[in-house]
Amino acid sequence: MSAAASVPPSGVPVLSALLDRRSTAALVEPGPDAAEVELLLQAAATAPDHGRLRPWRLVVIDGDARARFADALEDGGLSRTPELSNGIRQKLRAKAFVAPTLIAVVAAPRPAKVERWEQVASAACTAYAMVLAAHGLGLGAMWKSVPFRTGPLLADLLDMEPDDELLGWVLVGTPADPSATVGRGAAELAGIAFRLDDEGRLLPH
Ligand SMILES: Cc1cc2nc3c(=O)[nH]c(=O)nc-3n(C[C@H](O)[C@H](O)[C@H](O)COP(=O)(O)O)c2cc1C
Repeated sequence: MSAAASVPPSGVPVLSALLDRRSTAALVEPGPDAAEVELLLQAAATAPDHGRLRPWRLVVIDGDARARFADALEDGGLSRTPELSNGIRQKLRAKAFVAPTLIAVVAAPRPAKVERWEQVASAACTAYAMVLAAHGLGLGAMWKSVPFRTGPLLADLLDMEPDDELLGWVLVGTPADPSATVGRGAAELAGIAFRLDDEGRLLPH
């Protein structure tokens, strides 16, 4: 591709969404309405999916249900580290209340010829699709996670099988301060993008 082509073309909505999106951590009411939640889920369900296995489960959590999710996050933390301090327990609980709506993403690999890692990758794409879709709807969003992938209460709450994994959740709401984002600046390609030349050498893109 020529250098000129690396300038983001304007007027291409999908490219604008990809290039302009920034995560927003501080999200307040109003959250997405029912039609918007439906669109986010529809977007998630377009994730690339080898074998059409739909190896994921998406769980919308809002309103008072967030307290149940807070219980499950605390329980998950305790399952991993039984001697968690009260402060850390409260921090885990607080994660459930930082946005009006959370959509949890569970990778649910199916017994199939498609490798497990492909199925987990597919599930991860659903989260990115929702973050992008939220941006397209003019909402703020951010993908969040915890350093454990299940626990008895989480498994129960999210209907997880033993091989399932919580890949985190997407926060959705209205940015408290539209100018405050936590993401990167312009995409920096140095060190991550290369070109394979015809002699088998990797060259910086
Ligand atoms: C699987 C996954 C989990 C993440 N979990 C967190 C998290 O718990 N806390 C956090 O600050 N950022 C987390 N991030 C990163 C943010 O979602 C976001 O990508 C980052 O802040 C950069 O912002 P940007 O997406 O606008 O470039 C996570 C990203 C991924 C892919």
